[in-house]
Amino acid sequence: MSIAVDNVVANNVAMLRCINERSLPVKFDAKFYEGAVEAKDLCYLGFYEEIPVGGIRCELVMPEGAKNADNAAAKLYIMSLAVLPAYRRHGIGSLLLSKVVEVCREKKVHEIVIHVSVENEDALAWYKKRGFEQTGTLEGYYKQLSNTKAAVLVKKV
Ligand SMILES: CC(C)(COP(=O)(O)OP(=O)(O)OC[C@H]1O[C@@H](n2cnc3c(N)ncnc32)[C@H](O)[C@@H]1OP(=O)(O)O)[C@@H](O)C(=O)NCCC(=O)NCCS
Repeated sequence: MSIAVDNVVANNVAMLRCINERSLPVKFDAKFYEGAVEAKDLCYLGFYEEIPVGGIRCELVMPEGAKNADNAAAKLYIMSLAVLPAYRRHGIGSLLLSKVVEVCREKKVHEIVIHVSVENEDALAWYKKRGFEQTGTLEGYYKQLSNTKAAVLVKKV
């Protein structure tokens, strides 16, 4: 069994869309996938035996009013992380996360943030096991879901 990660490019971004649409309750628009190609080292596919089965897309968020701040003040926000149900529990989610932790270290970014539905207990447990701490909740975050509340999870790197 071999697992690997690789960059998202114009030729494979459709796979990221397929994976997200089959794995996540929220839908992302065309702009999200256009941005995924432009995001370069902030967006990856995860492979099982060379088949693309997982994906992560992140963005760097600078503090307000600090556009030219150095990366030490920035946060890496995980916009999506998903693995197709049939390919879970093979370490692909962990590999995608460790790739972006590595990118944070290279860019000298010290914090990773993700929002997770408060109802997604499995994902909450998964992130907490990997060093994320819940710092709060956001009401009205998931406009497409019946329970709109998101947990805010933060990992120091
Ligand atoms: C959360 C998610 C990304 C995890 O992906 P994954 O590929 O299953 O993650 P991993 O395989 O790394 O970890 C899952 C479990 O498998 C175990 N595992 C890792 N490698 C393994 C292997 N080779 N064989 C068997 N089990 C393994 C891990 O120990 C882990 O168990 P733990 O959490 O109790 O430690 C995936 O479940 C998912 O897509 N969920 C739906 C989308 C979602 O909720 N996303 C989060 C909000 S954006």
